[in-house]
Amino acid sequence: MNATVHQLLNQQINKEFYSAYLYLEFSNYFKSQDLDGFANWYFIQAQEERDHAMLFYTYLQNEDMPITLEAIDKPNFEWVDHMTTLEAGLTHEKYVTSLINAIYEAAYDSRDFRAMQFLDWFVKEQGEEETNARDLISKFKLFGNDPKSLYMLNQELAARVYSAPSLVL
Ligand code: FEO
Repeated sequence: MNATVHQLLNQQINKEFYSAYLYLEFSNYFKSQDLDGFANWYFIQAQEERDHAMLFYTYLQNEDMPITLEAIDKPNFEWVDHMTTLEAGLTHEKYVTSLINAIYEAAYDSRDFRAMQFLDWFVKEQGEEETNARDLISKFKLFGNDPKSLYMLNQELAARVYSAPSLVL
């Protein structure tokens, strides 16, 4: 495996675990605000991020490449209000998309077709995650300022259930 591709794939394990940490922080914030549905939504999002980390981990293991686990950063976010939190989620997903694209570019440059095929799932997943983050912002803009509507939105988000990733290695 090309050294840059290897380094970026290894680094992505850490980035995905950091995403899980960040969303656990979001979940805890909403829990503290008595919005259990929002808390549930981000708790499940954190589980998905952990799954993403494990997919990168397993991919490197399957390729017989060394793995270095680095320290996970403390979530870097100042709580302001609900909307700022939702917007930070979208900003973070766009950042993760840029990371996936950078790995894809390195894999493309080194003609690592297997890595490209593995990363295809993440390219699609990032599109979905950005859409989900954008949808939350749109819904909060529409319904967040009316207590009854916020209650209904919170109920909707409480219904999100965890499902394992569709990518199996
Ligand atoms: Fe694993 Fe939300 O990107």
